[in-house]
Amino acid sequence: MSDVLGNPAIPPDASDSLAVLEKQRSTAETFGIPLAVLLEVTHRCPLQCPYCSNPVELDRAGKELTTEEWKKVLTELAEIGVLQVHFSGGEPTARKDLVELIKHASDAGLYTNLITSAVLLTRDRLSELADAGLCHVQVSFQGTEDIAADRVAGYRGAHHKKIEVAKWTRELDLPLTVNAVMHRQNLHQLADIIQMAIDLDADRLEVANVQYYGWALKNRAALMPTVAQLDETTRIVEEARERLKGTLAIDYVVPDYYALRPKKCMGGWGRQFFNISPAGKVLPCHAAESITGLDFESVRSNHSIAWIWQNSDAFNRYRGTGWMKEPCKTCEFREIDFGGCRCQAFALTGDAANTDPACALSPLHETIFKQAEREAEGETNRFLYRNFAGGTLEPDPGESGKHGA
Ligand code: SF4
Ligand code: FES
Repeated sequence: MSDVLGNPAIPPDASDSLAVLEKQRSTAETFGIPLAVLLEVTHRCPLQCPYCSNPVELDRAGKELTTEEWKKVLTELAEIGVLQVHFSGGEPTARKDLVELIKHASDAGLYTNLITSAVLLTRDRLSELADAGLCHVQVSFQGTEDIAADRVAGYRGAHHKKIEVAKWTRELDLPLTVNAVMHRQNLHQLADIIQMAIDLDADRLEVANVQYYGWALKNRAALMPTVAQLDETTRIVEEARERLKGTLAIDYVVPDYYALRPKKCMGGWGRQFFNISPAGKVLPCHAAESITGLDFESVRSNHSIAWIWQNSDAFNRYRGTGWMKEPCKTCEFREIDFGGCRCQAFALTGDAANTDPACALSPLHETIFKQAEREAEGETNRFLYRNFAGGTLEPDPGESGKHGA
């Protein structure tokens, strides 16, 4: 999921039947196995997006689960009641065995979604994936125009290729979601992105403002939008939603630094979501490994995935409300947002059990909001590109016009 943020395994659109089912299940069976699971099959990716949701410590290829191990995972997921799997990364098409894995998932009765940066796909390979049973494609975009979009991706020719792949997707009769990760340096293109999604015949557009942990936190000063930009974004999204009812569903993830209450991250820790890392760790969210002091069980252990979900310490540590400190502990919203995001709380306060500073009741909210405002108005635009070496600073435009992998 290198250039895809937000919460892909929990579709927020209520018209999505899985989303409706998930909502029903979340109230009926609090810790029932999630209906949809995110599989990060690799962290390898040719793109270098500065807001990548992968951990800063990436899993190298040698640690990845083998084909047989992923197949075993897929069989087990189907057996315990999972209905949908999102193949993500990194870039999932970097795995040579992707067709085989999709076929195995499909044969096991799982609905399969491919979350891709698209740049490694050929029409033939996409067609093979469709023949293997692929049900849905989600292509991430960095903007609407080659030079600027390729600069964000850190990869020349990426935007052009994405448009091509999106068209092939529809030609092959696969449903398409356009995912657009938005930040200060591309928000001015939002109206064009909405039009691009219509022109590409997408069913759904995800307008996901960057969430600031991992790589994005390192790049916050270059990405943070201004309050004025955010107000304009909300206006454009609301107008487009009304105008495009029945044509294009638009999901909208706001940057929670500018909210008064935090997002219910992952639907609450260990309640509706888990993902599996390239090395086979079963995680409560894609950024969970950034929290130190938690041991995450692996599918390579002797435990079943169902056992890990129900019983492992990492899932139980922040489940429910019993772990909360003040102000969450006695707050009337504690069962609504579950204290916000554990990863953000850890990244910004050093303790995952603290209130997410995105909440106005957090003693740190004011400080962090002011800092974000300063960064949004600042001059820092250079990216730290995501890679296995811990990041590479974008060349100074004064020295070189070159960007790319
Ligand atoms: Fe949510 Fe905690 Fe803030 Fe209350 S204090 S609104 S529970 S994050
Ligand atoms: Fe990990 Fe929010 S991203 S709990």
